[in-house]
Amino acid sequence: MLKIAVAGVGRMGSHHLAMYRRLIKDGADIKLIAICDPEESRLNGTSKHVFNMGTDAQLALDTVRKYLNIDELLAHETPDIVDVVCPTYLHCEVACKALKAGCNVLCEKPMALDESQCDLMISTAKSCGKKLMIAQCLRFWREYVYLKRLVNNGTYGAVKAAYFWRGGFADHINNPSWHDWIIDADKGGGGLFDQHIHDTDFIRLCFGEPNKVVTTAKKFFDKSRDDIVSTNYIYPDKVVNAIDDISYAAYPFSFGYRVNFDGATVEYTANKLTVYPMGGTPFEPNVTDCGTTEDAYYNEIVYFISCVKNGIDPVICTPEDAKATIALVKKEAASAAANR
Ligand SMILES: NC(=O)c1ccc[n+]([C@@H]2O[C@H](COP(=O)([O-])OP(=O)(O)OC[C@H]3O[C@@H](n4cnc5c(N)ncnc54)[C@H](O)[C@@H]3O)[C@@H](O)[C@H]2O)c1
Repeated sequence: MLKIAVAGVGRMGSHHLAMYRRLIKDGADIKLIAICDPEESRLNGTSKHVFNMGTDAQLALDTVRKYLNIDELLAHETPDIVDVVCPTYLHCEVACKALKAGCNVLCEKPMALDESQCDLMISTAKSCGKKLMIAQCLRFWREYVYLKRLVNNGTYGAVKAAYFWRGGFADHINNPSWHDWIIDADKGGGGLFDQHIHDTDFIRLCFGEPNKVVTTAKKFFDKSRDDIVSTNYIYPDKVVNAIDDISYAAYPFSFGYRVNFDGATVEYTANKLTVYPMGGTPFEPNVTDCGTTEDAYYNEIVYFISCVKNGIDPVICTPEDAKATIALVKKEAASAAANR
């Protein structure tokens, strides 16, 4: 049985907790043993900030041992896996501590804010002989896995153009005291690093490294950077663009893509996937074989657990690949700065 600990139980940590509960219900051979978070209200579920934790996450909180930081947790527990879901600027420090204590580490995206921290995480995992995976969730998202398959298999021919979008984040406006680290450029990296990175990573995965990136961006929050961003990824044979905006007021978080293949257009919008084949009738494809469940976070956790259990290095998202995504996001930030 694999013992799991979660470091950071805010918004995303709560969702990970719910996923572990669901996995246990589904019969996974794991035990959720401990969590840590410097905010006591997060540890006991009384935070005034509501995370839509749901019953599963709340139940998980009730049954684990609780610590105020990773040092205390590692001094008292011997987890097989530490799931790092704390603020981005702490990923490297917390992950390396867990690796050095002999734990395998699943770490939320973005891997870190700069490549030297990524290198440290990679070398620490190697020298400790432990597994490290960055949770780039789109790689486990059924509708995105489906798109990747169409690109790889050439089902509808070549890609002429691809457009990706995400945005929304009115929480920061309505609820500014909640995790304001995200809108501090030195801690979260701004919208480009925190949110837009999902599409950057997926574009790299589908189409490889672009020849160059041309980005325009604007900051919205005082201490932030690149909260509204649009990048053209320059490839010789296709037009590729991704936009992100974390400054929307009163607009719900949403994301999607539209990809223009030679023989079809494929669109994922408002949680609905549609294929528009040339000369045919539009249809909603079955994506059930593109991921264990409809929840990408569940799927990525299942995958990492199976890698640890079977002694296999994760290949769907290697740490080196996650670092390359950080490098590309840095190029986008540099392009945005040059275009201001
Ligand atoms: N994959 C996704 O779709 C997705 C979505 C949201 C957030 N994230 C990522 O998850 C991470 C957390 O984001 P969030 O939205 O949950 O933020 P959050 O602010 O809601 O939660 C972070 C939690 O970490 C705690 N924390 C602070 N310092 C800590 C430390 N040293 N050790 C342990 N815990 C600590 C905070 O008290 C807080 O409870 C970020 O890296 C973010 O980019 C990923």
